[in-house]
Amino acid sequence: MTEKNDLMEKIVSLCKRRGFVFQSSEIYGGTGSVYDFGPLGVEMKNAIKRAWWIRFVTTRSEIVGLDTAIIQHPKTWEASGHLKSFTDPLVECKKCHNRYRQDHLMEGKYVGTLKAKEPNQCPFCGAKDFSGAKDFNLMFKTFIGPTEDTASVAYFRPETAQGIFLNFKSVLESSRVKIPFGIAQIGKAFRNEITPGNFIFRTREFEQMEIEFFVKNSREESQKWYEYWVGETEKFYTDLGIKKENLSVRQHDEDELSHYSIGTSDIEYKFPFGTSELGGIAQRTDFDLKQHEQFSGRDLKYFDEVSGERYLPYVIEPSLGTDRAMLAFLVDGYKESDGTDGRESGEVVLALHPSIAPVQIAVFPLVKKDKLPEIAKRISNELVSYHVRAFYDESGSIGRRYRRQDEIGTPWCVTVDFESVEKGTVTIRDRDTLKQERVKIDEVKGYIFEKLRS
Ligand code: GAP
Repeated sequence: MTEKNDLMEKIVSLCKRRGFVFQSSEIYGGTGSVYDFGPLGVEMKNAIKRAWWIRFVTTRSEIVGLDTAIIQHPKTWEASGHLKSFTDPLVECKKCHNRYRQDHLMEGKYVGTLKAKEPNQCPFCGAKDFSGAKDFNLMFKTFIGPTEDTASVAYFRPETAQGIFLNFKSVLESSRVKIPFGIAQIGKAFRNEITPGNFIFRTREFEQMEIEFFVKNSREESQKWYEYWVGETEKFYTDLGIKKENLSVRQHDEDELSHYSIGTSDIEYKFPFGTSELGGIAQRTDFDLKQHEQFSGRDLKYFDEVSGERYLPYVIEPSLGTDRAMLAFLVDGYKESDGTDGRESGEVVLALHPSIAPVQIAVFPLVKKDKLPEIAKRISNELVSYHVRAFYDESGSIGRRYRRQDEIGTPWCVTVDFESVEKGTVTIRDRDTLKQERVKIDEVKGYIFEKLRS
């Protein structure tokens, strides 16, 4: 009745075994579709966020950063339309009482690692009898203060974007940004998804990396910058190693557009469970600023000093999920050797880009004696002092140590051997070519910096 997704199962198992991702609250049986990031996962996720921030904020003078609260004034969600329109159609299987998103069911999508044989069939029990669809709002509710009544209801943000719109005027007044300019934010978002699943692809608590890019208030300007941001977003993924052939851009049909958008493109990735959204670029027009102006009674207009015009800018929004990006990088990099590439058949390599690999360089003494550990530790400590993610390991055979690093995506391994003591050199092994180069100890840092720059 169901199909299994073997590649996803292998990735989930690798993530647990090597400390990338754990089921949240596992000792209590787990929280539904919420995940924790282990020692390697947190390094990788932070590296993805850092790569995004450096690329779009640090190195650009026209984009500034922001970090806003998760719980905003409840009126925010009335104004943004989320209270009314941020819903998914919920149906219930009449036989086993599992609940699904109707559109996912009709498309025959995976639910977790299970997939029904046919569309419109319950992936768990196979029945084809469902209740009528109800609109289900995805926002998590909470209360502000000690009284749990309707007046104190608040919501966990379902997107980071609204915090940017609420602070639009404060950013304008406190920095010297001029149109076109962007405000960027990375942070948690929460959605009470009906059918979460596919590991960290669709979860109830996740992270977004969003830019609201403000442009002149015309459709032409909006279209021009929209196309620009589709290209920039694609490049973000491919520059970090995603294979071009696994990415595609899909423009939304009219009836699919979110309530705030006049044009949206999804950047999609060929996941093992089907081609699905990795990130999206939307033309939000002046919808949000106009709504917040109306609901708050505050003037949120931009004053153009050159033309003397006052207007609400149009907005282009590249919105990326950090967790989804991480899953795509893991899937894209996962390889099992067929035994013809110098490895034994079945050995696993994660071909991660050096910028996002949890460990960038591992340093090994060949043996645990004759001063080799001291030299290796010195090399590792020096690299760490320059903020390189270096890792020292002296346990097990050298072959096992290489395999352990291949499996977590470490691009380079430095081995300190007897020539290190005699001639002051070490070998540097490349994960992808398996070539080993001999390099002077005091040139290791420069060698790695050069590689990280390229
Ligand atoms: N501000 C626009 C916005 O939030 P969205 O398409 O709903 O647009 C943007 O979300 C991105 O956030 C998605 O492309 C995806 O990468 C990520 N995302 C959305 N829901 C998610 C979920 N339940 N779990 C993980 N990531 C999610």
